[in-house]
Amino acid sequence: MNGSWIVKLPSARFPAVPENEFVMLALARAVGITLPENHLININDIRGLPEDATNIEGKALAIQRFDRGPNGQRIHMEDFAQIFGLFPEDKYRRRSYANIASVLWAETGEIGTFEFVRRLIFSILIGNADMHLKNWSLLYPDKHTPALSPAYDLVATLPYIQGDQLALTFGGSRSLNEITPDQIRRFADTARLPANPISQLVIETIERTITAWGTLEQKELLPDPMKKNIDQQIQTVAKNTLRLFR
Ligand SMILES: Nc1ncnc2c1ncn2[C@@H]1O[C@H](COP(=O)(O)OP(=O)(O)OP(=O)(O)O)[C@@H](O)[C@H]1O
Ligand SMILES: [Mg+2]
Repeated sequence: MNGSWIVKLPSARFPAVPENEFVMLALARAVGITLPENHLININDIRGLPEDATNIEGKALAIQRFDRGPNGQRIHMEDFAQIFGLFPEDKYRRRSYANIASVLWAETGEIGTFEFVRRLIFSILIGNADMHLKNWSLLYPDKHTPALSPAYDLVATLPYIQGDQLALTFGGSRSLNEITPDQIRRFADTARLPANPISQLVIETIERTITAWGTLEQKELLPDPMKKNIDQQIQTVAKNTLRLFR
């Protein structure tokens, strides 16, 4: 494997997190979301683990770093807590998804903004409640022009924390049950975006996710109850949302 890599080890609290993230990344890729290369690896195959991590069993997730170039050179990256001048402990507060979108609209135009909306809708579909300010970043590949970074930390969190709510408000709501046209209007108004293309993106992302999930081979890596939970989340959000938009 070339380049620089991040390895995410299993969690002591929650089962199968590396498998969960690996499958959600595979699903995101099938939906058209931009992602770094990643692999599920055996922990026994990792060299140079810290002493206290050598007796952990199972799989880990290796993810290629997008803030390093092919020769290891640094690419400047800023997460949205840094961009807003907030402390890390404010990552669930003080700003909304509309505030992020408004920065992306000014700095990256449609490309970054629409990709952000696609990832946000995808996160609601899979039940990923944890998309706080530090899980979104700008990269500066040519040192000057910002671009939304590839996606990271896409984990279905609802199987671990039932009834959880979105990390930040989205059009005034933190619900993971559905996306409403009113929510999209409020989000678009606050971010000063055109609402029509955003609604189109909602429908398109739902349809793509349903189709991709139906044939996704990697989902067999998930423990059965987790697979059922994610399946139910996707189907429920899709049904609740599509009937409001059609
Ligand atoms: N592929 C990548 N390339 C470069 N930096 C990355 C990459 N993936 C993640 N990061 C950085 O590492 C940080 C931690 O990664 P990630 O969010 O995946 O882990 P986490 O431990 O689940 O985080 P959290 O605190 O949100 O639970 C991110 O906030 C981001 O700054
Ligand atoms: Mg994170």
